[in-house]
Amino acid sequence: MADRIPATLIPGDGIGPEITDATVRVLRALEVPFEWDVQRAGVTAYEATGSVLPDEALESLKRTGLALKGPLTTPIGEGFRSVNVTLRKMFGLYANVRPTKTLLPGGRYEGVDVTVVRENVEGLYAAMEHYMPVGDDTEAVAYGAGFNTRVECQRIVRHAFEYALKHGRRKVTLVHKANILKILSGLFLHEGRRVAADYAGKIACDERIVDACAMELVLHPETYDVIVTTNLFGDILSDLTAGLVGGLGMAPGANIGENMAIFEAVHGSAPDIAGKDKANPIALLRAAGLMLVHVGRQDLAEKLEHAIHEVVVTQGIRTADLGGEVGTKTFTQALLSVVEG
Ligand code: NAI
Repeated sequence: MADRIPATLIPGDGIGPEITDATVRVLRALEVPFEWDVQRAGVTAYEATGSVLPDEALESLKRTGLALKGPLTTPIGEGFRSVNVTLRKMFGLYANVRPTKTLLPGGRYEGVDVTVVRENVEGLYAAMEHYMPVGDDTEAVAYGAGFNTRVECQRIVRHAFEYALKHGRRKVTLVHKANILKILSGLFLHEGRRVAADYAGKIACDERIVDACAMELVLHPETYDVIVTTNLFGDILSDLTAGLVGGLGMAPGANIGENMAIFEAVHGSAPDIAGKDKANPIALLRAAGLMLVHVGRQDLAEKLEHAIHEVVVTQGIRTADLGGEVGTKTFTQALLSVVEG
């Protein structure tokens, strides 16, 4: 069919295959036009091929420029570099976009609808680290540096404003620590203000110091709309906002570059529940929803979100992490019943 959209599908490790299977089945029922090229990465790939990121997977990503990715396990202390970080650097995935929205009523917070746009390749996560010796102690001082470039600061803030325009949002908040990191964070704030001026009259802009922002997000999350910030602050704040709406099992993320977009759940491979039919597939389903908006199929994304709402809120069918009793398979079946009418 001419309207098929080639996309790479990486089921990944741990609960990855279970939640990917659930997601693909629901998307198929919605007649989503992705034509999946299934590829291995992570520990699963390492065990089969000796590489955590085999050439076939890379070729597929280069060909499609579009992927849905399950979580990948990063083995600790065996000299493995995170595949996720490798992909970000290799494909210049400069923007990490994480929308969080209240789904379950009666929780600690109502009406949360915050999107964190995090710069994904610079900042303190450049991790230029080393020890400095003092006397006999070779590791007496730990030293780490980061960098922000003018070009990247402009690009990430512009991405946030364009996201706001495309998604009908009203405000972008620049989050920084320029009062202390006057140069590193100051450059981000300065360039952010310049970009914001281009959107004056269309999208409002305000500024917050990161610590104040963290407190306000806990006290009054409904006052935030789109947040744009540098790598480290974005990593922390986006987990915070995921916590406001019920935890990692609900939160999707998009990694966007000029020629590549990779969509994933925010959570990891959850080895403690892998293979036990306990995983909540909502985060990956919502990641697929972001992917649909990315390719211009907002209509299908809305149908998907509606089905999730119907099952979780109206029917009250939930996996254990949301206080429910059903497993992944039963939950998926409930979604399929809604979609198939
Ligand atoms: P994790 O997110 O895998 O698990 C944390 C806790 O949340 C566990 O108790 C887990 O059972 C639970 N959980 C996570 N997702 C769930 C879901 N969909 N449904 C129900 N419960 C869920 O974090 P952890 O344990 O720190 O990391 C495990 C592995 O995942 C590590 O190797 C880590 O490097 C990797 N990881 C990969 C990511 C990715 O591929 N994007 C992101 C984060 C971690």
